[in-house]
Amino acid sequence: MGTQVWWKNAVIYQIYPRSFMDSNNDGIGDIRGIIGKLDYLEWLGIDAVWICPVYKSPNDDNGYDISDYMDIMDEFGTMADMDELILKAKEKNIRIIMDMVFNHTSDEHKWFIEARKSKDNPYRDYYIWRDPVNGDKPNELGSVFSGSAWQLDETTGQYYLHLFSKRQPDLNWENEAVRKNIIEVIKFWVNKGVSGFRLDMIELLGKLPDEMITANGPKLHDYIKELYREGFNCNGKAEEIVTIGECWAADTDIALKYTEPDNKELSMVFQFEHSALDEIKGKGKWALKEMRLTELKSIIDKWQLQYDKGWNTLFWNNHDLPRIVSRFGNDKEYRVESAKMLALYLYCLKGTPFIYQGEEIGMTNIKFDTIEEYKDIEIHNMYKEKKAEGVAEEDIMKSIYAKGRDNARTPMQWNDEINAGFTKGIPWIKVNNNYKEINVKKDMEDNNSVLHFYQNLIKMRKDILCIREGNYIPLLNEDEDIAAYTRNTNGQGILVIANFHECTKKISFSDIVSKRIIISNYNRTEIDLKDVEIRPYEAVMCEI
Ligand code: GLC
Ligand code: CA
Repeated sequence: MGTQVWWKNAVIYQIYPRSFMDSNNDGIGDIRGIIGKLDYLEWLGIDAVWICPVYKSPNDDNGYDISDYMDIMDEFGTMADMDELILKAKEKNIRIIMDMVFNHTSDEHKWFIEARKSKDNPYRDYYIWRDPVNGDKPNELGSVFSGSAWQLDETTGQYYLHLFSKRQPDLNWENEAVRKNIIEVIKFWVNKGVSGFRLDMIELLGKLPDEMITANGPKLHDYIKELYREGFNCNGKAEEIVTIGECWAADTDIALKYTEPDNKELSMVFQFEHSALDEIKGKGKWALKEMRLTELKSIIDKWQLQYDKGWNTLFWNNHDLPRIVSRFGNDKEYRVESAKMLALYLYCLKGTPFIYQGEEIGMTNIKFDTIEEYKDIEIHNMYKEKKAEGVAEEDIMKSIYAKGRDNARTPMQWNDEINAGFTKGIPWIKVNNNYKEINVKKDMEDNNSVLHFYQNLIKMRKDILCIREGNYIPLLNEDEDIAAYTRNTNGQGILVIANFHECTKKISFSDIVSKRIIISNYNRTEIDLKDVEIRPYEAVMCEI
């Protein structure tokens, strides 16, 4: 198999449709907006786009609450638009990856509307219902979006489970009818010609709520194998379909269960170990601390070295995470340098890169003055909860500035015109007011821009074999500022050096000789590896 499957050679671009491009000026990004930007994506050199949910939804959680898996949200367009997108993308050799939310539906899904009507409704068992215990909720299970995971439904006097918002009831995967219906959904989209699925919160399917078990329940892998057999492989061509599971609780062993090819489950997983490095352990994403580079490096090393039977996803950003340049880089004086450094460090590793919209121009976090300007349900629920606990406004806002999901959800900055060229209407969420400085048009015109750097890197991954296949050797393991590694295969080798901090530092590699510099963020032309001075956020790749 090796690098034969298409997705091991691919660079994937993630689109958050609501904030990507608005084609009809109602303030909301849409499918025709994406179609209009296919030339741009082709220019960038990506192979596939993962599109966050575009299905019918009341948007309690921006489309992650689906009310019809086989229809398109009115705000985003029509099924005809979607078909056209699949077709036009294909003409440019860009594949489409759909985002599928199978852990829960919207409370407006017809299954739930039926289910809540009565205890003996045929759809009752599509969801997870429990009687009250001593007149209260069944147990202490909490929702990811704050508060209890149980909601009392007045009509029948029972509680239903919702691991996310109360408008996202969890499906009951033990019910075979649920599984059969979901398989129909997969077939529907495979037959439309999409090339894969990103599987939202897939790790939760085997939950045992009475035992307080959510991720990695006992039947999880049976369910995924069934999805593979009947769904991804419905036309006998599963190897052409890429599947990426969202797995917050995965370590390398757990990840292998999903992805070892013989297991016939998934292609890759998103794991988030590196994403918890600026959080106080056990206290979740709102409790902040500084990230230590040695910790980041040891996690990267672990996944590069101990997960060699699997295939890594390489990502800094997505629609749930803060902007990487504001997080592990420097979004002020060294924005351009640090954005390039972070890209060079991550995307020369072994695995498939996932670039999140706006990352390629170094978009930054947002700081709105008031809570009202934020739109995300997770932010609002957390705000209310912390307020009730008596936490000071200033401290709450500090966490939101650092970790809130709207950091990644402000509109894509296309140019320096009104609303950054995203819409001529009123955008559903405010544009970051740095758009005159940071936008695609400006970066297109400047060969030294973050955007051109991304375009080069993407091209390099195709041209330089050892980036895809080479073995990985970490260097400078103890260094708190600088990360370095080599990749080698068939006599070809590269060395990557990346300074994560603002300091200038001398380093030395006694037994490596650089043949030439392939790419760098300071336009370096020479390097003597025995004695190098690395400048703030400097990054270099050389041939060795
Ligand atoms: C995933 C999605 C996130 C969503 C949640 C519930 O984590 O990435 O945006 O809110 O699942 O579907
Ligand atoms: Ca629109």
